[in-house]
Amino acid sequence: MLSRGDHLLSIQQLESADIPHLFKIADSMQPYVLRQKRTRVLDGAILANLFFEPSTRTRVSFGTAFNLLGGHVRETVGMKASALAKGESLYDMAKVISCYADCVAMRHPESGSVAEFATGSDVPVLNGGDGANEHPTQALLDLYTIYKELGQNGKSLDQASIAMVGDLKHGRTVHSLSKLLNNCAPVSINLVAPNALQMPDSIIRALETHGHQVQTFSDLAEGVQSTDVVYQTRIQEERFETQEEANLYRGQFRIDKQLFDDACEQSTILMHPLPRDSRPEANELNDDLNLLDNLAIFRQTFNGVSMRMALFATVLDVVDSVHQYAENVPWYSNKK
Ligand code: NCD
Repeated sequence: MLSRGDHLLSIQQLESADIPHLFKIADSMQPYVLRQKRTRVLDGAILANLFFEPSTRTRVSFGTAFNLLGGHVRETVGMKASALAKGESLYDMAKVISCYADCVAMRHPESGSVAEFATGSDVPVLNGGDGANEHPTQALLDLYTIYKELGQNGKSLDQASIAMVGDLKHGRTVHSLSKLLNNCAPVSINLVAPNALQMPDSIIRALETHGHQVQTFSDLAEGVQSTDVVYQTRIQEERFETQEEANLYRGQFRIDKQLFDDACEQSTILMHPLPRDSRPEANELNDDLNLLDNLAIFRQTFNGVSMRMALFATVLDVVDSVHQYAENVPWYSNKK
C-alpha cells in the first residue's frame, strides 16, 4: 500500500487495495476542492513542483492540491531555466531540493528520469510524467473519473467497456491507465489506433494475462462501438523523430458530434487527459461536443485535484488529521 514517505514513480507500485482506499480519501477531499471548507493541515510544508516539459493542468493541479491542504508551493519551469542546463545530475538536484522541500512533483521528457531523481531524494517524489513512460497520478484520476461517471450511469467498474483511442504508442497516460487496470477486475478494452501507433505489445500482453478482453482496431467508428467510456488522446508530436512523421497521423481519429451520434452509445462517456489539440488539422475532440453532458473532460480535471490531495495526504501522513484543521471559507466562490 502507498504510505508515509513513499515515492509514486510507477503505477505498478500500487496494489489492488490502494485503489478503493485512494478513491475514498479523494472523496473526502471534495469539500476543500469545492471551497466549502479549508484546511491548514500542511501549513508550513513546501512542495517543489519541478516541471521540465510543457504542462498546464498537471502542474497547476499539483500546486492547487498542495495549497488546498494548506501547504506552500515553489516551482521551476523549463529545462533552460534550471541547473540541469549547466550539467547538474538529477541525483544532485534531488539532494539539493530535499534540503528545501517536504515533497516533490516532477515532470521530465526522459523515461526513467523521475525514478533517477528519486534515488537522490530524501523526500517523497510524485511522477508527473516521464517521457512516454508513465503518468501515474493521471491514471489514478482517470480511473477515479471512470468509477464516478459509471456510477452515475448505474454501472460498476467491473462491467466497464473502455476504448482507448489515438496515440497509444507514445501516450504515457494510456500506458499508466492500462497498468492500473491490471489491479482491477477484468473488463473489456478496445485499443483504437493507427497500426503504427498501437499500444506496445508488452502492455497488451499484460492486459490479456490479467484476463481483460482486449481487441485492437484501426477503424475509429468500429472501435468505439458499444463502449461505456471513450478515452481519446492527442498525437504526441513531441515524441516523434520528425514533425512530418507526426503530421501523418494528426486528425486521423477525430471524434465529433456526428461520429458520436453514429457510433457511440447514448450513455458513452467521453474522456481525454487534455490538452486537446484544437488546431484545425488535429482537432481530435471537436468543440461541437462541448455542451454534451457525456463530455467528462472538465469533470476529469476537477477530479485530478481531489486525487492529488489524496496522494499528498497519504505520503505526508495527514489523512487522519486533514479534517481536524478544517475551517469555514469566508470568501465568495463559484465552486460552493
Ligand atoms: C498528458 C501528458 O502530459 O501526458 N497531459 C496531462 O498531463 N494531462 C497528455 C498529453 O499531453 O497529451
